[in-house]
Amino acid sequence: MNAHDSEKVIGTLLSRGYTQVQTAEGAELVLYNTCSIRDKAEQKVFSRLQQFKREAGKGKVFGVLGCVAQQEGEKIFDRAPHVSLVAGSASYTKLPEMLVQLEAGGRRVTGLSLDTEETFETPLTRRDNPHRAYITIIEGCDKSCAYCVVPFTRGPERSRTSASVMDEARRLAESGYSEIQLLGQNVNSYRDPSSAGWDFATLLARVGEVPGIRRVRFTTSHPRDFVKPIVDAIDANTALCDHVHLPVQSGSDSVLGAMDRLYTRADYMRRIEWLKNARRNIAITTDIIVGFPGETEADFNQTLALLDEVQYDSLFSFKYSSRPNTAARHLVDQIPDEEKTRRLTVLQERQRAIQIRRNSEAVGSVQEVLVEGRNQALGQWIGRTSQNRTLNFTHPAADGQQLAGRYLAVRVTRAGPNSLVGEIVM
Ligand code: 5AD
Ligand code: SF4
Repeated sequence: MNAHDSEKVIGTLLSRGYTQVQTAEGAELVLYNTCSIRDKAEQKVFSRLQQFKREAGKGKVFGVLGCVAQQEGEKIFDRAPHVSLVAGSASYTKLPEMLVQLEAGGRRVTGLSLDTEETFETPLTRRDNPHRAYITIIEGCDKSCAYCVVPFTRGPERSRTSASVMDEARRLAESGYSEIQLLGQNVNSYRDPSSAGWDFATLLARVGEVPGIRRVRFTTSHPRDFVKPIVDAIDANTALCDHVHLPVQSGSDSVLGAMDRLYTRADYMRRIEWLKNARRNIAITTDIIVGFPGETEADFNQTLALLDEVQYDSLFSFKYSSRPNTAARHLVDQIPDEEKTRRLTVLQERQRAIQIRRNSEAVGSVQEVLVEGRNQALGQWIGRTSQNRTLNFTHPAADGQQLAGRYLAVRVTRAGPNSLVGEIVM
């Protein structure tokens, strides 16, 4: 989501005659698009800003965009006085006006309103990848998970009309994109605000039918809103990728309750059963938080047992990080950092073993990859499977030949914990 926001910012500025340079050193205007999901991400922007402090005197202008800007607002000027622009996650369309104010001599300009007149229409987006395109279909989040800052930084849920999403999908297909990734903090609570009234499963199915679109992905799903028709849609159309990211956060009902996640482990497992019983071989990935306040050793063991039960293809795991405004901030019984680190290590080792086993099951199979580029050092092409695995491969005649963007059949010959290696099927 954050990466796509940067694409929108860059496109907006390019359309106003700005040019992009490759290094912060060479820039006259430096914008940091920030994430505040965990404290570490937030600290990173302040340490980056520190690095360039001396250059502010030489006329370089600094701005902070995104969720840290939304969350900290004008306090950023106190903490980093060389910053002169602070604009939140919903204000990037107003950036050109704000920059005009700065050029006219304004010292400190802010754009922090969250009552967005929607920013979904994005004809100016400058996409980084020539084959795969993100489309935002819903912004914000109406859940209130006890640990999460997103509802405060991105505001309430707003869905985009289905007609607007379909127009963008068709336009992208016509410009040569073959993969679309539908984006939202809570993508499956999508509800078409127009009279067509499509739900998420309908939208997903229709995007998958756009001529020229060979792959559709979506992220991120909340288990509570993940309904069976989504699995049925995937089963019905091979353009919808064999992959669902379904963040569970914890395997313990008492932790899920304290997190206010609105489902139990059994509710979650029902959804996993739908996915495992599908006709397609759908890869399942997740997010886990370890060390949520009050998480006991027994709770943590239930999360480990859940990994064994589900056999995830991959996961993202995080140490709980206390965030401003959130309900969990004031919970007593915070877990010491060393213990969180220990649990994270144990969890990652357990998952690594699962991935080695799961990936080795793929050896011998033939899979279609979208070629993403070339790894010169290894002499391999980089491909991605429908299940979202990286499958690097050799191609005898391909050294000088450009394969990026093509769909090719690759036979898997080796498996590691995080990727597969194979050879082209001629
Ligand atoms: N601490 C740790 N991890 C968090 N996440 C969200 N908020 C926090 C937090 N306060 C994780 C969740 C979410 C992912 C995007 O980031 O696992 O699914
Ligand atoms: Fe955060 Fe929960 Fe909303 Fe996801 S569903 S963005 S974790 S509040």
